[in-house]
Amino acid sequence: MGAEANIKEIIKMNNIEKVYKMGSSTFKALNTVNLSISKGEYVAIVGPSGAGKSTLMNIIGCLDKPTSGEYILDGLNTNCSDNKLAEIRNKKIGFIFQTYNLLPKLNILENVELPLLYLGQTGSKTKEKAKQAIEKVGLSSHIKHKPSELSGGQMQRVAIARALVTDPQIILADEPTGALDSKTGQEVLKMLTELNKEGNTIVMITHDKEIAANAKRMITVRDGSITSDTLNKNEVLE
Ligand SMILES: Nc1ncnc2c1ncn2[C@@H]1O[C@H](COP(=O)(O)OP(=O)(O)OP(=O)(O)O)[C@@H](O)[C@H]1O
Ligand SMILES: [Mg+2]
Repeated sequence: MGAEANIKEIIKMNNIEKVYKMGSSTFKALNTVNLSISKGEYVAIVGPSGAGKSTLMNIIGCLDKPTSGEYILDGLNTNCSDNKLAEIRNKKIGFIFQTYNLLPKLNILENVELPLLYLGQTGSKTKEKAKQAIEKVGLSSHIKHKPSELSGGQMQRVAIARALVTDPQIILADEPTGALDSKTGQEVLKMLTELNKEGNTIVMITHDKEIAANAKRMITVRDGSITSDTLNKNEVLE
């Protein structure tokens, strides 16, 4: 185990700014963001369209780098080469997207196995891990199916299995119920709550405050800044 293994603060952002350049003009999408998230938290990030949620999520997920400021993920400074950043991302983040992002030509088992292959793992162990993750989301009977043969809710469950299979430090969900009807959406939210109860750290982006109420903490982003950071009712600070 590395030295970072026992760090309680999994996400630590100091004065993060993100400036997009468009030709000769620039736009500051994030402005002096300071954020700290501990292991085991379930956080929703909300805010109106254009507030900077996806920009923030891309930085949290190591898909993009800030223009300035510092982002420490599980004790590691993410100000590193793109290759190293990709390695950190593959090891530490499990992604769930609104539109599932499954590969259509691969079956369910192969889709869930993929993040392990990216980590350089191969062989029967990876198949076993993928099968376990699929079992966890209740889709063991569908491992040979292609994504197109599943319902939206089932596809999102596969995406959850794929996010879990590497045992990531953070599960990052971007509008995970956005493409689902409300009943199926509730099932996906229940699954996220269950995963959080098991100790997983979850960060969910949503524009919907009702959905955000499933999380334990709600952070509001407006015009590139965090404007509120509250615990949802019934939650106490540990
Ligand atoms: N690649 C880019 N180049 C230039 N400007 C960008 C880029 N990406 C985002 N922006 C701008 O940054 C701001 C924040 O965008 P972002 O996508 O983070 O918003 P959001 O909160 O996720 O919105 P939504 O709820 O609509 O998804 C917006 O004004 C957007 O136009
Ligand atoms: Mg967005």
